Amino acid sequence: MVNVAVLGYGTVGSGVVKVIDTNHDSILEKAGVDLNIKYVLDLRDFPDDPIQEKIVHDYEVIVNDPEVSIVVEVMGGVEPAYTFTKRALMAGKSVCTSNKELVARCGTELQQLAKENHASYLFEASCGGGIPIIRPLRTSLTADVIDEITGILNGTTNYILTKMIEEGLEFDDVLKDAQQKGYAERNPEADVEGHDACRKIAILSSLAYGKRVDFTDVYTEGITKITSSDIVYAKKMNKTIKLLAYSSRQGDQVMAMVAPYLVSKEDPLYAVNGVFNAIFVHGNMLGDAMFYGQGAGKEATASAVAGDVVEEAQMLGTGVVSSWKPEKQVLTDVSSTEKPFFVRMKGDALEKENLEKVFGPIKVIGAGLEGEFGFVTEKMSEASYQERAAKVDGIIGMIRVREK
Ligand code: NDP
Ligand code: HSE
Repeated sequence: MVNVAVLGYGTVGSGVVKVIDTNHDSILEKAGVDLNIKYVLDLRDFPDDPIQEKIVHDYEVIVNDPEVSIVVEVMGGVEPAYTFTKRALMAGKSVCTSNKELVARCGTELQQLAKENHASYLFEASCGGGIPIIRPLRTSLTADVIDEITGILNGTTNYILTKMIEEGLEFDDVLKDAQQKGYAERNPEADVEGHDACRKIAILSSLAYGKRVDFTDVYTEGITKITSSDIVYAKKMNKTIKLLAYSSRQGDQVMAMVAPYLVSKEDPLYAVNGVFNAIFVHGNMLGDAMFYGQGAGKEATASAVAGDVVEEAQMLGTGVVSSWKPEKQVLTDVSSTEKPFFVRMKGDALEKENLEKVFGPIKVIGAGLEGEFGFVTEKMSEASYQERAAKVDGIIGMIRVREK
């Protein structure tokens, strides 16, 4: 029997208990490991839940129990998750987590610590919820040179954008709904300002390109500036709006960014709706592969965490680590990357000729909104767009256009 302790009985933690309990026999049959949840650490008690008999409030009980082989950290945040993880690994226990904030900040150090202690450190659920993506990058795709990753990596923002676009609902109402469904972070600013997607693309890029991508270097915009007027224009253009996390490598040069994009109907990412996520990976031999599934939520995320628990149980005494080199990957400036830009302007479309003197050829988009119009530029660099935009008055907003 392999004893497991779960830290945090929230959305994901209660899901992990459910998956391991519900699928205990099937896991035993398929993977040959007999998993037992011995403790659940939480700040609260759960008097109406059978889990109460396993609830502890003192981490010392877990870290000092030699019978506990695997610690599942699903509390979130940096502290005390970092200290608890470190102590578990130093005690030779394997750790798995869905905590992308911790993996993005301290993953390199924790991987090293796991290796030194012949323990495992896995974090499949840290990117894309229930979608298997970390393990494929670590195993199936190791013979490929990955040169591009594009993902819808945040379930909450994709849920919000989908509901705003398809049902005309207001941002704040949909955010509340996403929080109630357990998709959002404790502080949903991490979702809507793009920080969560930024951490995830940093983790995936570190794994795919081999060196540590520091998430604080990734250019990041969220969806808080997207309005119902932007959606009117998007529909007029037969497009939708998605928060995309993107990174690419050319030789030694890696760039990464997170921003809302206009996505056309022909693009497979167009149809990724609601809480679903998708990750495109391009490899030099593989070509395109797309990983798709539920990006947040109790059971889906817990399924990914439990998959890590099973692998760690099979590797007790040896350890398995998803890792990258500690050396920092310097990111190239996004200002040289090129794409078309959609721009909303005050005024009327009669100004096209003057605008073309600044932006070059543009395509005017009339969406019937009073006192404004939109236009799409040809492909140009971010720096060039910023330089040109600074020369005109009346820009209401800009959204990048994804080319596919
Ligand atoms: P929740 O807030 O639902 O659960 C966290 C639980 O941990 C709560 O029960 C909380 O107790 C408990 N907790 C917090 N601090 C401590 C502590 N010091 N000691 C003991 N217990 C503690 O979060 P989620 O389950 O949604 O998320 C957990 C992690 O998984 C986060 O890192 C999140 O980013 C990640 N994640 C979440 C997904 C989702 O769909 N929800 C998907 C993928 C990843 P209390 O409530 O009393 O504070
Ligand atoms: N808040 C995150 C999201 C949870 O919405 O994608 C999954 O990582």
